[in-house]
Amino acid sequence: MVFRLDGHSFHRFSDVHNFEKPNDVRALQLMDHAAKTVMEEYPDIVLAFGESDEYSFLLKRSTSLYNRREAKIVTTLTSYFTSCYVFNWSTYFPDKPLQYPPSFDGRIVPYPAEKHIRDYFAWRQADTHINNLYNTTFWALGTFAKDKHEILFSRFKINYNQLDARFRKGSVLVREEVVEQGPLSTKEDLEPTGVDAQAPFSPDPAATSEGSNATTWEANGSPAEEQKNSGKKEKKIKKAKAKPLTRLVLLHCDIIKDDFWNERPSLLAE
Ligand code: GTP
Ligand code: MG
Repeated sequence: MVFRLDGHSFHRFSDVHNFEKPNDVRALQLMDHAAKTVMEEYPDIVLAFGESDEYSFLLKRSTSLYNRREAKIVTTLTSYFTSCYVFNWSTYFPDKPLQYPPSFDGRIVPYPAEKHIRDYFAWRQADTHINNLYNTTFWALGTFAKDKHEILFSRFKINYNQLDARFRKGSVLVREEVVEQGPLSTKEDLEPTGVDAQAPFSPDPAATSEGSNATTWEANGSPAEEQKNSGKKEKKIKKAKAKPLTRLVLLHCDIIKDDFWNERPSLLAE
């Protein structure tokens, strides 16, 4: 069993408490201290690994801690670690009172074999390396986005904002209701999708075929189903008029800000 906990919203917590960037040694030592106290209290923990705002604990295979009840282990250890963190805060941050109570989430992952445990810890440590390399480079290059843009442009002649949105934003696949039959070319977000990126975007379900740039099907159907039943297409479309038709669209848009979500309230409604 591996028990892992992770600081809740430590991006904010580290900001509010002015953690040094990219690494704050006091914060890391406080994590170590809390983890050590947990290990002292729970001898069945045989190994712990920490980075950033997380800590993983390996319980010995034969442990009978709390009769191996998951909820009991997770809640008690998470709670105890959190108390230790708060309890020792002033030792590491004598000049910085806690601004609000921090919290941690916890989970248990049961791994069937030794190999998985090895892989797990290797994964966490590789993560440390990757994050640290990134963070170090990030902070060495400069804190402000405009500086990085300047570096990219002056050194590499890269205008960051003109890079493909796919690279800058990633891909977002979302279901959208088909509300009208006309072309959607006015909607900037709707970029060509699928195999033929140059094909015009067709909102017409009847005109949608395999290889076209948009996949369309009924709200609860699937493309495979639609292919199987292609002979019944007329019928399906009629039926679809009763239920809203949806299609999948591929976007490379911002999903960090509110706009995307505000435009699609159903995404978070259920
Ligand atoms: P959740 O875990 O999902 O609640 O979000 P989180 O904000 O805690 O993010 P995550 O656990 O992925 O990452 C931990 C975050 O803590 C980092 O992104 C940093 O913002 C912050 N952090 C952790 N260690 C340090 C540190 O040594 N210095 C600074 N400045 N920030 C740190
Ligand atoms: Mg966290």
